[in-house]
Amino acid sequence: MNTDSASSPRLPLVVTTRDEVRHHIATARKTGRKIGLVPTMGALHAGHLSLVKAARRECDFTVATIFVNPTQFGPHEDFQKYPRNLDADLKLLASLNVDLVFAPTVAEMYPPGSTTFVEVGAVAAPLESAARPGHFRGVATIVLKLFNLIPADVAFFGQKDYQQSLVIRQMVADLDVPITIRVCPIVREPDGLAMSSRNVYLSADERRRALSLSMSLRLAAELVAGGERDAGAIIRQMREVLDTAGVQIDYVALAHPDTLEVVANIQGPTVALVAARVGNTRLIDNQLL
Ligand code: PAF
Repeated sequence: MNTDSASSPRLPLVVTTRDEVRHHIATARKTGRKIGLVPTMGALHAGHLSLVKAARRECDFTVATIFVNPTQFGPHEDFQKYPRNLDADLKLLASLNVDLVFAPTVAEMYPPGSTTFVEVGAVAAPLESAARPGHFRGVATIVLKLFNLIPADVAFFGQKDYQQSLVIRQMVADLDVPITIRVCPIVREPDGLAMSSRNVYLSADERRRALSLSMSLRLAAELVAGGERDAGAIIRQMREVLDTAGVQIDYVALAHPDTLEVVANIQGPTVALVAARVGNTRLIDNQLL
């Protein structure tokens, strides 16, 4: 008996070219297996792993992609220094018995001469796009490319990137992409900080101040539970929490959970969203109220 393989699961099959991934997906399809896709940019944490676990529960063949997508980063953003750790990622994916990993290079995904982009429209326009123009164009483009290469039955995304999940739903609906989108709950550290690959950038002091994002969202939920309906009043108190922690607010918004139109009075389901810079690190978080 090979005790090694009992204690450390075998690494998943890793492919790097579009031809290879198409081939393996076609083979899995032929055997009638339900395919689950978890697109990531690597630097995996418990949030990503919850998506993989959801895929494993619902599907028979799980594919994870690891690709730091340059087209969703602005010219002054952290594309170059974005954390990359393929070996550690593969071990984590192995521990969850992922079947296939697609980890292409930039040249593989964007060969010279590729010029087509996906523009999603209204739901991509507010909030994140003010600070990150072109971000969702890059996200929608790479996600559609991945959907075309990996025609899965179900694709899994995290609620942490709330606006992104709406952008992807809109794209799938508008472009008739036959993939079901699942959005899985935010995974938080025990103290409330939303898991993010960018948390590794935080110093100990910034890590402490970053807690103000989730604290402001909890306050919003408490205020609404206590009967407050005035969005302006809620946003003022959320901003106070963030200001006191000394983080630089990008936006604090209460919006309709499907359209992201801002709400003045809370009458039905609402999403609270925050984005702030903690030192040089830009973090986002949200909560459904
Ligand atoms: O959420 C992410 O990690 C990325 O935006 C995604 C969906 C993998 C596209 O690059």
